Amino acid sequence: MTDKTFKLNTGQDIPALGLGTWQSEKGKVKEAVVHALKAGYRLIDGAYCYGNEDEVGEGLAEAFKAGVVRREDVFVVSKVWATYNTRVELGLDKSLKSLGLDYVDLFLVHWPLLMNPEGNDDKFPKLPNGERDIIRSHNHVDTWKQMEKLLATGKTKAIGVCNYSKRYLEELLPHATVIPAVNQIENHPALSQQEIVDLCRDKGIHIMAYSPLGSTGGPLFSAEPVAKIAEKHGVKPAAVLLSYHLARGSTVLAKSVTPERIDENKKLIDLDGEDMKLLNDYSDKLTKEGKLQRFVYPPFGIDFGFPDKS
Ligand SMILES: NC(=O)c1ccc[n+]([C@@H]2O[C@H](COP(=O)([O-])OP(=O)(O)OC[C@H]3O[C@@H](n4cnc5c(N)ncnc54)[C@H](OP(=O)(O)O)[C@@H]3O)[C@@H](O)[C@H]2O)c1
Repeated sequence: MTDKTFKLNTGQDIPALGLGTWQSEKGKVKEAVVHALKAGYRLIDGAYCYGNEDEVGEGLAEAFKAGVVRREDVFVVSKVWATYNTRVELGLDKSLKSLGLDYVDLFLVHWPLLMNPEGNDDKFPKLPNGERDIIRSHNHVDTWKQMEKLLATGKTKAIGVCNYSKRYLEELLPHATVIPAVNQIENHPALSQQEIVDLCRDKGIHIMAYSPLGSTGGPLFSAEPVAKIAEKHGVKPAAVLLSYHLARGSTVLAKSVTPERIDENKKLIDLDGEDMKLLNDYSDKLTKEGKLQRFVYPPFGIDFGFPDKS
């Protein structure tokens, strides 16, 4: 399934499956990138905030040098961190330098807020009282206006956002000259975020699903419908959780630094209507019971407009 792609509103092809690199430890992530590219992955998802883009870049360089893949055949994603949301070109330059590349294929706003660019830390500035140093007067639309200017530099082929709720998208879109190519959001059957997926589909914004396995520790493997569908198809639960996004027309990011799992995670299957009904019913049930599970929600203390957090 590593050769399946979707079309972005820019005309670019984006692979359906990508390797995630958040929490991929230094000392392991280079090998993970090389292994994934050898295994046929053609999308690597990274970010300045992950603190490992230099090693991701080493993995890419090694794969290019060994002839595993050419630069133009890999879809490289990076993200501007919240302390750089008034300086997005500087953020992109820093990522490109670490990655050892002269362009990325997609550059995303990581979170729609501004943390103090002049605070006491480059990534997580804090106030003297220990709270996060956030500039609450900042409008996320202003960051997007800067992102739009990046396209003319050639340093990124496409621009997009992450962690945009329906409410935030509705605030952004009337002011956008360029419609985001992508909205990268946490997405799995325990957090289907259907209202965002539907709006994005309507506006031609491609969904990239993050934390598809429930992030650290794979907490979704034992969910009843997931286990049942895995048994029916004779696959592991991870295959069901990743394949769910293909059936929804989304790109899915699976993070692993374990070679066997990187191999395992590319064995995706076609879920049928009955499987999707089971998973959708499960999502609806959790929604009704107020039991949705969101695994990634940094304590910014800001209402980003997600119904389960508002
Ligand atoms: N835009 C954003 O704000 C944002 C936020 C979160 C994530 N992301 C992106 O999305 C990617 C994926 O999300 P994620 O890292 O949160 O979590 P994830 O991919 O849902 O889960 C990763 C965890 O599952 C384990 N794992 C992977 N494959 C497995 C398998 N086949 N069987 C059992 N365990 C398996 C990994 O362990 P090992 O590595 O030890 O094998 C790791 O602990 C991130 O890496 C990042 O690139 C973006």
